[in-house]
Amino acid sequence: MPLPKVELRGITKTYVNGDVETPVLHGVDLVVNAGEFVSLMGPSGSGKSTLMHIVSLLDRPTSGTYLFDGIDVTKRTDVECAKLRLEKIGFVFQAFHLLPRLTAVENVMLPLLYTTDKPSSRLSRAKAVLADVGLSDREDFLPSQLSGGQKQRVAIARALVNNPTVLFADEPTGNLDSKSSEQVLNILRDLCKKDGRTVMMVTHEEEAAAFSDRVIRIRDGKIL
Ligand SMILES: Nc1ncnc2c1ncn2[C@@H]1O[C@H](COP(=O)(O)OP(=O)(O)OP(=O)(O)O)[C@@H](O)[C@H]1O
Ligand SMILES: [Mg+2]
Repeated sequence: MPLPKVELRGITKTYVNGDVETPVLHGVDLVVNAGEFVSLMGPSGSGKSTLMHIVSLLDRPTSGTYLFDGIDVTKRTDVECAKLRLEKIGFVFQAFHLLPRLTAVENVMLPLLYTTDKPSSRLSRAKAVLADVGLSDREDFLPSQLSGGQKQRVAIARALVNNPTVLFADEPTGNLDSKSSEQVLNILRDLCKKDGRTVMMVTHEEEAAAFSDRVIRIRDGKIL
């Protein structure tokens, strides 16, 4: 049995802003196995995005243990976590977060600026992942010239350009019509079922969750 990709034990998170403390996660235990496609569902404010930021190493828990791919990241430095992120993790946001002045292919190449790859190989790699999401004919378009579904596919290509083993997506279809949603969900499912990647997705929609293998439910910062 390969190691779980994500293993959380007793994870808590309290945001601190000046004198105000906001406890959000209250002892989350969770395992996501290699090659699984899981959905995370729960009411607004229940801590889904907070949890996604922690599992994708964008933020740190207040207490508890997080093993990512068998590595106790709670004991690693920020630099070590950033390196792990770059090598193994992709993240897709609800609102795409593409840079408006860069073309599709330039947006996709961005994460490779932090690698030692040659510029020519960065470009060919970016073109290849854009082709994988069906957007070869949109390489030189700006985000403003793309539909919502196309923007999200560019964002998925950007998340994949480093060939991550795990992809996290926070409401990836939250801003999309039903046809574009289905396209994006089929891509996520293929990334798991055909490429063997692990995918963890937040969604509010049962129809979207039905594309995944398993639904994890969270309420008031606790897994049900
Ligand atoms: N940086 C922050 N500082 C203080 N409180 C925060 C911060 N970020 C989030 N929160 C609070 O944490 C709680 C959980 O927020 P989170 O974004 O994780 O919810 P969510 O489940 O993703 O909700 P939604 O479905 O609306 O996206 C909310 O009550 C929110 O106000
Ligand atoms: Mg959220």
